[in-house]
Formats: sequence, structure tokens, C-alpha cells
Amino acid sequence: MTALSVSTSAAASLRADALVVGVAKGPKGIVLAAGTDAVNEAFEGKLAEVLTTLGATGAEGEAVKVPSPAGLKAALVLAVGLGEAAEEGYGLETLRRAAGVAARTLAGAKKAALALPAESVDEVEAVALGGLLGSYAFGTYKGEGGKEPVGELVVLAPRKGSKDSKAAVERAVAIGEEMNRARDLVNTAPNDLNPKSFAAIVQAAGKEHGLKVEVLDEKALTKGGFGGLLGVGNGSANPPRLVKVAYTHPKAKATLAFVGKGITYDSGGISLKPAGHNETMKCDMAGAAAVFAAVVAAKRLGLAVNVTGWLALAENMPSGSATRPGDVLRMYGGKTVEVLNTDAEGRLVLADAIVRAGEENPDAIVDVATLTGAMVLALGNRTFGVMSNNDELRETLHTVAGEVGEQSWPMPLPAELRKGMTESTIADLANMGERMGGGLVAGLFLKEFVAEGTDWAHLDIAGPAFHEGAPFGYTPKGGTASAVRTLVAYAERTAAAKA
Ligand code: BES
Ligand code: MN
Ligand code: ZN
Repeated sequence: MTALSVSTSAAASLRADALVVGVAKGPKGIVLAAGTDAVNEAFEGKLAEVLTTLGATGAEGEAVKVPSPAGLKAALVLAVGLGEAAEEGYGLETLRRAAGVAARTLAGAKKAALALPAESVDEVEAVALGGLLGSYAFGTYKGEGGKEPVGELVVLAPRKGSKDSKAAVERAVAIGEEMNRARDLVNTAPNDLNPKSFAAIVQAAGKEHGLKVEVLDEKALTKGGFGGLLGVGNGSANPPRLVKVAYTHPKAKATLAFVGKGITYDSGGISLKPAGHNETMKCDMAGAAAVFAAVVAAKRLGLAVNVTGWLALAENMPSGSATRPGDVLRMYGGKTVEVLNTDAEGRLVLADAIVRAGEENPDAIVDVATLTGAMVLALGNRTFGVMSNNDELRETLHTVAGEVGEQSWPMPLPAELRKGMTESTIADLANMGERMGGGLVAGLFLKEFVAEGTDWAHLDIAGPAFHEGAPFGYTPKGGTASAVRTLVAYAERTAAAKA
């Protein structure tokens, strides 16, 4: 794993393989960002000229390498683009992405120093987090040809407030490492990550970090009447699990419940997905991975709020023992559901977990799930939908997501879409409703399982959870750790509001 540290040394005197600086797009060509002075001096004031000749424009995502002249201790200068030149700071997400581009470009190098324009503690934290996320590499299976991530990143920070900078980098390490943990879980092949092995990983992390972990196995689930989890898990040789992982703080005045969809593989079940729709379905546990990571991060950050994670783990497979379209499940809490499509399985495992989470009277429940293709059609691959039974909670989640660099959008739960699901002739509910607005229908289904008077929100991360395109900014191919930062920021805000 990449080591991250902070230094107030002068950029020119830091020994490293590469020194990273920021450049932007001005009206008359490339503009050097703050932090480039010493480097420009070493180039006898011609850095902008040299970079322009090399084709640099300052555009976001750009990375241009120049060998260092005498006067710099680093062997190489890497200029990363910041987009349009800004007078008053570049924005935290721009800094995160630029640091991510630098870290990705320098994969294989031993040590790099980041001299990006970071003045405030928030900016220092952004550079650190972007660097750590950008240096992510999933190396579990690749032999030769797997590229090592950059070995060490040094974030250069202003001399003033160096103590705060250090704390900011420590925060970035806690959040970044937990996000990378979530990415690892999503990227792990589904023949290696199943409900049982996932639960064991949570148990081990619980031991390491002092979190309370409880696992309900198939026997306990049967005894407890968790018909949703059992119904979805029926077809698989790998039985389901419900995992509770709890962080408590002695001074906490609020308790949050985070519920994650943890389908370790979604084949669709008897309503089998066609080829072309199942190749990436190991990502269907990204919600559970995000919840797990957020709980550990809350602990590492010592937030003054209790956070309970509920991971609804099952594998959705077709077999002679699988749930059939037409079967009726008795869910935890007693409601009956007619399963019309076994591929609408996420809502079934989540319903059990939401009812169980509600029994402990949390101040709010937030579920995270790769729930519907419809949400991907609506919002694309980089934005998750936020639904809630409380307008303020929905706005809060959308706002904090934006603040930490996650794209989200508020979505409604229109009452008239509920009707289609209640037209099961034999059960309380069907697991399908109208096709139109399918992402909202799924949200309305979950809402049925939220206890009266409990604030609840639902994040549908089916789009951003897994990135299939070329890497960009700090986002690699594969698992992205979508929603982790939003959950952590929401827990932080709750702690601050109740303090
Ligand atoms: N896991 C899928 C949703 C999904 C789609 C996640 C694309 C990530 C990328 C979910 O279980 C599913 O199959 N949903 C169905 C629901 C339908 C049968 C009502 C869907 O969206 O097609
Ligand atoms: Mn499905
Ligand atoms: Zn699914």
C-alpha cells in the first residue's frame, strides 16, 4: 500500500523520483499554479514555455513529464492539469482529481512529492485523499504485468499550521484506506467473496478495530424468520448472512443505521440475466462494502456518533432449490411478498435488514444499494440517486455528497407508483411494479419496510459503484467505493449537529 506523509520542506529540496506541480488553462495559454515557483526558477523561468512546447494545455486530466534541470532534488517534474485557471483556489474536487491523475501516472515510482496548490487544511486533505485513491491498484490475481502503485507520496503543505496539515493527512489516510478496502471487496472475484467469507472479513476487521460484530448464519436466519435473505439465498450453495457491525462512541447523542445490499453475485436467479448483463455482477455487494468501510472509517476518525452497519449478504443463483417467480416469501417482521421476478432480489434482502435495523430505533436509516438498472438509465454512470421519506434528510445527503466530491441527485417517491406493487392477488406486496420509473418503484418497495416515524433514505448506486471505462482522476477501473465518503460525511455532520 502507498505510504502517505506530509512535509513542509521546500519543493526544490525534497528528494523524490518526481515532483508534481499544477498547471491551468489561462486565456493566453498555460498558467502555473501556486507551488510552482521553485520549479520555475530551476527552469530559469521557462517552465510554462517548456510545458507548452511539450503539448501541455492545463486541461483537467492532463499529465506531462519533464526531466528536472539542476537545482531540483527530484529527478522528474510532472505537471498535472487543473482545468480553467482560478483566482481563488481550485476547488477540492479539482485537487483530488489532479492528485489522483499524478498518482496513477507515477505508478511504479518509489517516491513522489505533491506540490499542488494546497493552502488550507481542506486543500491539503483533498490532495492527500486524491493521491491515495489514485494510487490504488488491485493486485490479488495479476502476476507479471501487474503494475505496483507509487510507493510513497509526500504532500507538501504550507509551513503555517503544519500540525493541522498532519491531522488532515491522517483523516485522508483513514478515509482513503477504507475506500480502497471497499474497492478490494468489490473487485474480488465472486468465487472468492461469498456471504460467508465476507462475514469473516468483517469479523476480522471488527477484532482489529474494536467493533462489535454479530453474524446471523442460515440457521439463525431461519429461526429469526428472515424470509427475504433466505428466499434470495436459496438457490446458492453459499448460504446467506446478516452481519451487524457496530461502532459506538461514549459521548454519542445519536445513532445512525447504515444498511448495505450485499449480493456477492447477482445472476438474476431463475429470472436469469442474459449474457451481457451478468459480467460485472460481482459488484452487487458494493452497498454492503460501502457500509462496512464507512463504519470502520467512523471508528478510525473517532466520530462522536454511534454507527451501526447492517450487511445483507446473499448470492442470487438459479438451481433446483432457488426461489421461483410466483413464490411467496414471509419477510422479517411478517409482511408477505410475491416474487414475480427473482432478479429484483436486492429489495428482498434489504427489506429484512431495514426491518431489523428499525427495531433498534436509530435516529435515521440510510441504505446503500446497486439496486436498479433504471437508476443508471436515469442518472448515468457517475451519479447516484437519493430517495427519502424525509425531504430534509434527502437534501442533507445530496449536499454532503457534493461537499466530499460525490455526484448525486435527489429523486422522488411518487405515491402513484406504489399501486403496481400492491396488486399481488395473493400477498401483501409484489417485488415488482410498473416498469416506468423502476428505480423509484424499488425505493417505494423499501419504504414499505421502514418503521412508522423513522427517517430513512435510500442511495441507489447502481451507476457509480463500478467503473467500466478508462480510469479518470482518482477513479480506477472496477470498484469505486461509491457512497463511502457520503456516509462518513453524514455521520460527521450528525455528530457535529448533536454536539
Ligand atoms: N443488481 C441489479 C441492478 C444493477 C443493474 C446493478 C446494473 C448494477 C448495474 C438488480 O438486482 C436488478 O437486477 N434489478 C432489476 C430489477 C427489475 C427486475 C425490476 C433491473 O434493474 O433490471
Ligand atoms: Mn438482480
Ligand atoms: Zn442485484
